[in-house]
Amino acid sequence: MANNRTFTMIKPHAVADNNVGGIIKLIEEGGFRIVAIKKLQLTPGQAGKFYEVHKERPFYGELCEMMSEGPIFPMILEKDNAVADFRTLIGSTDPAEAAEGTIRKVYAKSKAENAIHGSDSDENAAIESSFFFSELERF
Ligand code: RTP
Ligand code: MG
Repeated sequence: MANNRTFTMIKPHAVADNNVGGIIKLIEEGGFRIVAIKKLQLTPGQAGKFYEVHKERPFYGELCEMMSEGPIFPMILEKDNAVADFRTLIGSTDPAEAAEGTIRKVYAKSKAENAIHGSDSDENAAIESSFFFSELERF
């Protein structure tokens, strides 16, 4: 995947709180185009596979539980410098440290329930997009 795409998911608590539209509005206003989008619910095992890199971290169990407790909206987004610019748009992992106007500042409830995911590299953006979307859906 070139450096003009990233992968994101709107997390279950934000979907449950009816904040999908508000979050997508900030994403589009941030200059990102939605390439692919769907709604689905992960099993705890599927969430565990997605977050396998964190399996030794103390919050892994809680994270897998939280990410499978309701539907999510995975998306592939397009923009120049997508990965870095999207990390800026979503803000710090902990909303207490997130800058004004960032998605997490507005919609995160806690460090765990922080509203949205953003890939941290082009390589992971490609891996994560392939986890959720078929080759046909990624065109
Ligand atoms: P993400 O992968 O979701 O975009 O978030 P991130 O890079 O900002 O944070 P990361 O370190 O990759 O952590 C992944 C997700 O795990 C949850 N978390 N909980 N309770 C805690 O201390 C804690 N730390 C991280 C968050 O949901 C975080 O987004
Ligand atoms: Mg991360």
